[in-house]
Amino acid sequence: MENALVITDLEKRYAGGTEALKGVSLTVPSGELFALLGPNGAGKTTLIGIITGLVTKTGGKVGVFDIDIEKEPERARAMIGLCGQEINFDPWMKPLDVLVNQAGYYGIPRSVALPRARKLLADLGLAEKNDQIGWRLSGGMKRRLMIARALIHSPKFLILDEPTAGVDVELRRSMWDYLTTLTKGGITILLTTHYLEEAERLAKRVAIINKGEIVANGTMEDILALHDGTAHASGYGGGKLEEVFVQLTSGSTSSSRAT
Ligand SMILES: Nc1ncnc2c1ncn2[C@@H]1O[C@H](COP(=O)(O)OP(=O)(O)OP(=O)(O)O)[C@@H](O)[C@H]1O
Ligand SMILES: [Mg+2]
Repeated sequence: MENALVITDLEKRYAGGTEALKGVSLTVPSGELFALLGPNGAGKTTLIGIITGLVTKTGGKVGVFDIDIEKEPERARAMIGLCGQEINFDPWMKPLDVLVNQAGYYGIPRSVALPRARKLLADLGLAEKNDQIGWRLSGGMKRRLMIARALIHSPKFLILDEPTAGVDVELRRSMWDYLTTLTKGGITILLTTHYLEEAERLAKRVAIINKGEIVANGTMEDILALHDGTAHASGYGGGKLEEVFVQLTSGSTSSSRAT
């Protein structure tokens, strides 16, 4: 099967000296939802930044549908829709304008963009908010607008950096359904999330990154099979994926915690 993403020995050292990625290799098969999990500061957003051309890598290779992001950055970027971790649309713009404006960056004429934007807003439950400036949307609505914007140029590969952060339980479930519909329609999704139940439900494959290194990578079944019960022994019983996650990444968060 064709791969949506092939990353080989990816390295990133920021100007200040932080080694955010220390030789990461990953493959995301096309048409699947792939979850990239890791604690705060593990390197997830850095990795996404490199794939989307926002961050320059210091080593390694990235191919998006066999397009080398270094050799053909524009072509690679056109394949990708990004919903970033930070809310970053113009708060004075109305949702429909946010989408049509974004379409303009890809050379999509307004006449084509308008019906597409209306459909996306309706699909994401934002149809009634067309006439309100973005500022007035709730946090969850802003996230959904970001997803709609990421899809306006009909990308084959959707990258979502914590798309459900701050989204309530009911809406989160409706977003899961929406993402499942997208993958059924052939779109590949790379998702980061701190809600491990979400990853467990949605992802066919998972990679866990810790301090810039991949510590687990495989199908959801492979990852769940790493479960050895040690995290459970600490007295906290989460879902199985959560326990594997804790097992592989515990003690990694840089901020000191009271013990
Ligand atoms: N622009 C930057 N300049 C310098 N260091 C950075 C920059 N962006 C990120 N870092 C550092 O790189 C490391 C990885 O950060 P990154 O944002 O990729 O983590 P993350 O896995 O997305 O975390 P989170 O779950 O909190 O979003 C951290 O140590 C961070 O401080
Ligand atoms: Mg991040």
